[in-house]
Amino acid sequence: MNAFELNKIAGAVLTALLIIFGGKTLLEIVDRPHKVEKAGYTLPVPKGGPAGAPAAAAAAFDAQKEVVPLLAKATVEGGQEAFKKCVSCHTVDKGGATKNGPNLYGVVGRDVGKVAGFNFSPAMQSHGGKWDFAHLATYLNNPRTTVPNNRMAFPGIKDNAELADLLAYLRTLSDSPVPLPN
Ligand code: HEC
Repeated sequence: MNAFELNKIAGAVLTALLIIFGGKTLLEIVDRPHKVEKAGYTLPVPKGGPAGAPAAAAAAFDAQKEVVPLLAKATVEGGQEAFKKCVSCHTVDKGGATKNGPNLYGVVGRDVGKVAGFNFSPAMQSHGGKWDFAHLATYLNNPRTTVPNNRMAFPGIKDNAELADLLAYLRTLSDSPVPLPN
């Protein structure tokens, strides 16, 4: 086969391709007005509160399933590290000072919004319940949606292992730490 023949074959193949794809494109162009319903595309609109919090995602978070089981492997050291995000507003020593937020000694297992000497928001005071592991993890994952209108200006921790470490650490801040879930 010489170069001239090769050229002919290549030419034939290219022509065929041109007919196949060119024809198809032409058909698509002709057909177009029927297919395009709306120009452009719809921007995703965040659902939820005024700040655009993903309400659906928050509702789907199940601390009992996603965080509490991780407590078995959580470390107090990891929790101490994570707690650096909290020290500007919370002390943890027994009888420690009130800062922007209440002292957190003994927080695991205690009543929500009831510690003496701190002026909780009405939202926190009337929330009810106790800070068990699941409740704490849910709150620390998303303070704003867990206790709407509470005053803790903290965005939340989205990493489940970090939350578990934090719980393991908070648990130790007590005269008699509540037992770990089994
Ligand atoms: C910018 C300051 C700030 C930061 C940072 C912050 N908190 Fe708070 N926290 C508050 C305030 C203020 C309240 C009281 C909220 C209210 O009364 O509505 C609070 C309340 C709480 C409560 C409820 C206490 C109770 O007795 O009911 C817990 C638990 C808590 N914070 C844990 C944490 C942890 C853990 C972190 C870090 C991951 C953290 N907070 C970071 C300010 C802060």
